[in-house]
Amino acid sequence: MRVVDLDRDMRDVIPTGTTRDSEYLFERMTLRTIDLARPGPGRRVLDLASGFGQDTVAMAARGAWAVGAEPSSRMTALAAMQSEKVDGPLPCWVQGWSDSLPFASDSFDGVICKGAIDHFDRPATAIAEMARVTKPDGRVVLAIANFDSLSCRVARSSDDVREGWLGHEVRRGRRHYDVPSDHFTRYEVDLMREQVGEHVELEIVEGISLAWGLPAWTRSVGKLPEPVAQAALEGLDWLARRLPSLSDVVVLAGRPRSRSTSA
Ligand SMILES: C[S@@+](CC[C@H](N)C(=O)[O-])C[C@H]1O[C@@H](n2cnc3c(N)ncnc32)[C@H](O)[C@@H]1O
Repeated sequence: MRVVDLDRDMRDVIPTGTTRDSEYLFERMTLRTIDLARPGPGRRVLDLASGFGQDTVAMAARGAWAVGAEPSSRMTALAAMQSEKVDGPLPCWVQGWSDSLPFASDSFDGVICKGAIDHFDRPATAIAEMARVTKPDGRVVLAIANFDSLSCRVARSSDDVREGWLGHEVRRGRRHYDVPSDHFTRYEVDLMREQVGEHVELEIVEGISLAWGLPAWTRSVGKLPEPVAQAALEGLDWLARRLPSLSDVVVLAGRPRSRSTSA
């Protein structure tokens, strides 16, 4: 039996940029995801698991006919309320689950799902649904946190040495390499490629940001003069783009596979 809370308030799990490296990561991930969906006049785009709906609003502001789909009625209501405060075209808000999207096949030119697939209990079905509702020449875009990033590997090894070998006290609470309790899947690049690639002809698999959340790096980049910090973040991001298996977030995009082969 599926037990769900349709009134769930997800504000606490949607991370916001509180440090310089976090701000950089979230901004880059958002811009790249939206750019790849190519929102613009005459195009129909879907933001799946739209949360607060800020990305749906951004796509509508670029001239697209934008829809935000979200199962939580509370988040849907918050998104609708927030979007009314913004000047510009309003998106449509739809309450719906990712594994049974309430749209006809081939409805959208672009479908995005950012920072959410690891919250889904049926991610493979959700990806099949994203591909189904995307036009054959449209684009499916996913942005997914990489729990096997360089940053996760270094932090995990350093904790193993400190706690296992040097006998330091075990830190309490969740570390950034631990999968949060509201995630169903711990993604790394091979799993992303396999799961997304089943329904999407992958044209783009690229990394975003490197070293996010490593305490020493977060502290140092926070203290550097702005232009130096920006250059350092951009340099690591350049590397991440080419080394998605080590990056903090991976963006995957491509055309839906023809349904006769994926069915
Ligand atoms: C971390 S939030 C991300 C929201 C938004 N995409 C963003 O980037 O700010 C994850 C969202 O996934 C939604 N969600 C969880 N399970 C879902 C499912 N099975 N189908 C659709 N959305 C789901 C939650 O309600 C939540 O709004």
